[in-house]
Amino acid sequence: MKITQKARIRFNQILFGALSFVEKRIHGVALNIFSTEFYKDPYFHFSTLRDKAPLHYSLAFRGWWVTSFDLVQEVLRDARFGSDVRKFEKRVKRIRKQLDEERRESFENPSMLNLDPPDHSRIRRLVSRGFVHNFIASLEPRIRHIVDECLNRVHNDETFDLIDVLAKPLPAIVIAEMMGLPESDHAQFQAWSEDLIAGSGSNDIETLERSQRSSRALIDYFKTIIDQRCDDPGEDLIGQLIRAEEQGDKLNAQELYNTCLVLLVAGHETTTRLIGNGLYLLLKSPKQFEQLKQSPELIPNAVEEMLRFEPPVQLTQRFALEDMEFHGKQLKSGDIVFVGIAGGNRDPKANDHPDEFDINREKVNQVSFGYGIHLCIGASLARLEAKVAFTSLLKRFPEMRLADDRAPWGQNPFFRGFDHLNIAINQPK
Ligand code: HEM
Repeated sequence: MKITQKARIRFNQILFGALSFVEKRIHGVALNIFSTEFYKDPYFHFSTLRDKAPLHYSLAFRGWWVTSFDLVQEVLRDARFGSDVRKFEKRVKRIRKQLDEERRESFENPSMLNLDPPDHSRIRRLVSRGFVHNFIASLEPRIRHIVDECLNRVHNDETFDLIDVLAKPLPAIVIAEMMGLPESDHAQFQAWSEDLIAGSGSNDIETLERSQRSSRALIDYFKTIIDQRCDDPGEDLIGQLIRAEEQGDKLNAQELYNTCLVLLVAGHETTTRLIGNGLYLLLKSPKQFEQLKQSPELIPNAVEEMLRFEPPVQLTQRFALEDMEFHGKQLKSGDIVFVGIAGGNRDPKANDHPDEFDINREKVNQVSFGYGIHLCIGASLARLEAKVAFTSLLKRFPEMRLADDRAPWGQNPFFRGFDHLNIAINQPK
């Protein structure tokens, strides 16, 4: 079983490389998102593709790519593109063959991210209630306290790993508290979440298996918590979702577990990467770092620019729901469209000098939280966590610097960021 999966992954990698090669010979451009060159500078590759063909059919991906800001927005808001792959029989057959029973179950019961209206609209309406702006804003003092507790672990003469000390625990603790999970479960919850996310974009069998085990464990955990809450749902996020179910607002048990899981998955790794990428960018730009220390009121704008310049989610995907003509190309029902968020953010038509990181940019045009009906539900929360994190970091460690100037980017084409980022809190003597 293990050998079969490994062999399949290897075979696919070789086939992908060969097709990319052919594609480059034919079209002069190919996007090999699994190559080392790509991880070093994905934006160069996205921009090259955008310049040649902002809407491009890729042989290697057997699908379309959009890489300009306008086309990214257009695909994400056009109702002729959907997120639910189960509508396409051929694709479903192929996917089912590759899945074991457990993963087949989650494939058959997707979360809101992979649903289309009307189911998507119904679930989203319920979940949105837990993310209303005023409520999220009211969390600021609590988030500041969590950030302080994380940073209290750093000692004066130390080098610390920003990812382990702050960027990973902060979003996990915040969402666990919003869900009303007992504090004694937070560490386990965080560990499962990290394992689960490590599986996305990984080709390593062990990582994939661990990720599947953790996904199962989390679903079981949510089932237990939800069962315990039946009589007294409480006021937190899970309580609100349970009550919606009881009031006949049509959220079934499976949807309830999936929603809990997606809130964790969608909000954890992404926010971790925003904090890591953002501090890296600042410390690589000493003048802007100094400016932000002097003028912390610029932090929200700096966070927008961090999101634009190094978006944690680099791409997403949609499926053509019907045969159609789109910008002069014929798309068939079921065609996959890869939506290059990272390419859109660096489009010179959307932002002047897009390859410059500039916290003073007056209007930051970015699609890092997506666009249209699936626009990120947690955007205000992520922005707030990042604002509080940077405010504290700048105040506590005004002398900080990168301990390693060439910290390696993680090798995941979907989520961009660092697995570790060592920060020295004092200047060298
Ligand atoms: C920097 C942090 C974050 C980034 C960059 C980010 C990015 C995104 C993107 C690009 C999408 C749209 C995906 C698509 O259209 O296919 C999305 C959707 C979503 N995000 Fe986030 N996200 C972040 C933080 C969060 C947080 C903190 C939460 C909640 C705790 C969250 C919950 C969600 C949910 C539930 C969806 C699905 C919305 C829907 O399908 O209608 N995200 N996010």
